[in-house]
Amino acid sequence: MELSLRLVSFLCVLLKLLALEIMVANSFTSFQPSCHDYERSALLQFKESFVIVNKSASLCDPKILQWNSYGVNTSNCCLWDGVQCDEVTGHVIGLDLSRSCLFGSINSNSTLFNLVHLQRLNLADFLRHQNQVRWISLSNNKISGEIPKWMWNTSTDTLDFLPIANNFITGSQPAIIPWVNMKVYIVSFNMLQGVPPIPPPCIENYNASENMLSGEISNMFCNLSSLYFLDLSGNALSGMIPKCWGNLSNSLYVLSLKNNFFQGIIPEICSNSASNLRIIDLSYNKLQGQLPRSLSNCMMLEGIVISNNQLKDVFPSWLGSLPVLKILTLQQNEFYGVIGKPKNYLEFPKLQVIDISFNYFTGELPSHYILCWNAMKDIDPHPLTYLSVTLNYTTTDFDWVQVDNRYAITITTKGVKRYYGAIQDIFTFIDMSSNRFEGQISELFGNLKGLYSLNLSNNLLTGCIPSSLGNLTVLESLDLSQNKLSGEIPKQLKQLGFLERFNVSHNNLTGRIPQGKQFDAFESSSFEGNPGLCGDPLLRKCGYSGPPSLPPSVFEENDDPDSLMELDWKVVLIGFVSGVVAGVALGDIVTIRRHGWLVKLSYKGRRQRTHQRNWR
Ligand SMILES: *[C@@H]1O[C@H](CO)[C@@H](O)[C@H](O)[C@H]1NC(C)=O
Ligand SMILES: *[C@@H]1O[C@H](CO)[C@@H](O)[C@H](O)[C@H]1NC(C)=O
Ligand SMILES: *[C@@H]1O[C@H](CO)[C@@H](O)[C@H](O)[C@H]1NC(C)=O
Ligand SMILES: *[C@@H]1O[C@H](CO)[C@@H](O)[C@H](O)[C@H]1NC(C)=O
Ligand SMILES: *[C@@H]1O[C@H](CO)[C@@H](O)[C@H](O)[C@H]1NC(C)=O
Ligand SMILES: *[C@@H]1O[C@H](CO)[C@@H](O)[C@H](O)[C@H]1NC(C)=O
Ligand SMILES: *[C@@H]1O[C@H](CO)[C@@H](O)[C@H](O)[C@H]1NC(C)=O
Ligand SMILES: *[C@@H]1O[C@H](CO)[C@@H](O)[C@H](O)[C@H]1NC(C)=O
Ligand SMILES: *[C@@H]1O[C@H](CO)[C@@H](O)[C@H](O)[C@H]1NC(C)=O
Ligand SMILES: *[C@@H]1O[C@H](CO)[C@@H](O)[C@H](O)[C@H]1NC(C)=O
Ligand SMILES: *[C@@H]1O[C@H](CO)[C@@H](O)[C@H](O)[C@H]1NC(C)=O
Ligand SMILES: *[C@@H]1O[C@H](CO)[C@@H](O)[C@H](O)[C@H]1NC(C)=O
Repeated sequence: MELSLRLVSFLCVLLKLLALEIMVANSFTSFQPSCHDYERSALLQFKESFVIVNKSASLCDPKILQWNSYGVNTSNCCLWDGVQCDEVTGHVIGLDLSRSCLFGSINSNSTLFNLVHLQRLNLADFLRHQNQVRWISLSNNKISGEIPKWMWNTSTDTLDFLPIANNFITGSQPAIIPWVNMKVYIVSFNMLQGVPPIPPPCIENYNASENMLSGEISNMFCNLSSLYFLDLSGNALSGMIPKCWGNLSNSLYVLSLKNNFFQGIIPEICSNSASNLRIIDLSYNKLQGQLPRSLSNCMMLEGIVISNNQLKDVFPSWLGSLPVLKILTLQQNEFYGVIGKPKNYLEFPKLQVIDISFNYFTGELPSHYILCWNAMKDIDPHPLTYLSVTLNYTTTDFDWVQVDNRYAITITTKGVKRYYGAIQDIFTFIDMSSNRFEGQISELFGNLKGLYSLNLSNNLLTGCIPSSLGNLTVLESLDLSQNKLSGEIPKQLKQLGFLERFNVSHNNLTGRIPQGKQFDAFESSSFEGNPGLCGDPLLRKCGYSGPPSLPPSVFEENDDPDSLMELDWKVVLIGFVSGVVAGVALGDIVTIRRHGWLVKLSYKGRRQRTHQRNWR
């Protein structure tokens, strides 16, 4: 009986789906503006695209029937039942089609999308009677409450794309996702509870991140051979990571389980060498044991993020053979032992972010690896892009759809620990702080000319600060504090024009602190705890023990008006901004957490009206 036309491409239902029937009622005021011609004709064409099935059914209230193009009052579509206009501009901003008993399709051609000012649309009833819906897109709204029961029962054969991320949806999901052809299931950033529902085998993108899911992951998650993105991060899931997920990596590009309570060992990921895996993020769990050696089979792997667990292992030098590994963060685990020399100088050729802080490494700093880390040696002039994996789906109705997943990490730079939701591909970073490294800082560090941030603090390092560090011209953050370094602060460090955070406190340094340029902006806490240091900003004036040092030359400091400008700017920056904004390298990638899901949809061929409209 249902005369459902085939819902050809997609249905974009926005807002208040769950608030159902009572949307526009009462919202009219006495004053009604007159409506815009193009909006009136859009509404009428929209009406034409429907069939009203049973006008006499008592539950139906087909408001749409009264819309007319003739009559006295009717040219003003703002007066039509179910239509709400903005009082000032007269644009159609709300549409309530609930209980209209409409049957038909809304496709990307629909004139509904000419109503560019639409803010509220109630199509709940329409949806409820569809059985061939393929897409429902409800992300980034303010939907609250539970997903209505009927929704789980709608279009069970056809619905394959359901993004409802970034709302306030509560309640739990059924144990099994009812849509047998579901490919893209994105419920992230809501308040869902219960266990993650088991997807059908054809699932491609499963994203339930940032909810309140708990319990263990069912073994039914095993046979998912089409799964590309799996994101369960930011929940309260516990138990072991299923062993069978060693094989998931055949199809999987992104595996993110961060911020949960997973325990036990990490399964043998990439146990058979066929692997698409690009990034694995298991950080902030309670994982134990060793890193599985099978990881060295993940030849496409670009990121390994396993910080904040209880892993106990030696330095994973065996990962050096991964040809495109860019990010390795092991911070806050129980890694131990001496980091030896690389087998050859081709190891870790693409590494640009390494964080091994807060572990129990001993022996000398891994200076020999510096010769390997070619990706940190150049200042990359490429236009800015972000580290990410882009996935291209082909579907039957759309030629292709692109989903972009940007890599994210939590690191400390410039004294601030924070989450970065995107990483520019030129960003390079070394954090070896809070270990038990001893011996000297090698001159070789001066080779890493692309380095933005270096932290060697809180170790047992001795010897001098190598003057070669003055060659790290893009360095923004340098922390050598809490070691046993001696000698003077090399004057060459004055060349570091972008240096925003500098800390050599609590060492055994001597002599005069370099003066001028950005050194005038560093606080005294950057230098304190060195009995032999003197000069600004420390209170201790330099005596006559060393060669007489002239007062800072006014000429030297003012010879370059640009440097003075820069000085002022730095002072402002340190005074007010430092710690809030992450500076040049990270400057425009500061994350807004509730950021929406990154999906970029593209169509080949027909490009006419796409869903790309921004409703709000
Ligand atoms: C239309 O609805 C009425 C009242 O609900 C019902 O009695 C009637 O059978 C329906 N007609 C059709 C054709 O479904
Ligand atoms: C036209 O609308 C006004 C205000 O809504 C109403 O008072 C008037 O009766 C309407 N006229 C007709 C012919 O429907
Ligand atoms: C859009 O409209 C054109 C012509 O009206 C039609 O050929 C095409 O199939 C429609 N596209 C969709 C997605 O319905
Ligand atoms: C789902 O729909 C089927 C038929 O369309 C019906 O028999 C069943 O009772 C519905 N289930 C729920 C939970 O609404
Ligand atoms: C996975 O698939 C295999 C064969 O296709 C089947 O024997 C096995 O029971 C499935 N495992 C699970 C957990 O569904
Ligand atoms: C992975 O799959 C292979 C066969 O495809 C099977 O022999 C092996 O046991 C699986 N490994 C795991 C950990 O499930
Ligand atoms: C997806 O397509 C883009 C170009 O459109 C390409 O750069 C990218 O490598 C593709 N991604 C995958 C995973 O194939
Ligand atoms: C260096 O690392 C330590 C922790 O080991 C941290 O407290 C400090 O803030 C970091 N320094 C900078 C400049 O980020
Ligand atoms: C700094 O780099 C230049 C060339 O880029 C090199 O000649 C010089 O020796 C380096 N200085 C130090 C101290 O390593
Ligand atoms: C600091 O350096 C001086 C020599 O410059 C040395 O005599 C002294 O023992 C050192 N102090 C510490 C705590 O290492
Ligand atoms: C320098 O490091 C010490 C401890 O290592 C810390 O107390 C101090 O606040 C830091 N100063 C700056 C400016 O980062
Ligand atoms: C999951 O969704 C969140 C936000 O909606 C997004 O930030 C994250 O990148 C997604 N994960 C994957 C693997 O696509």
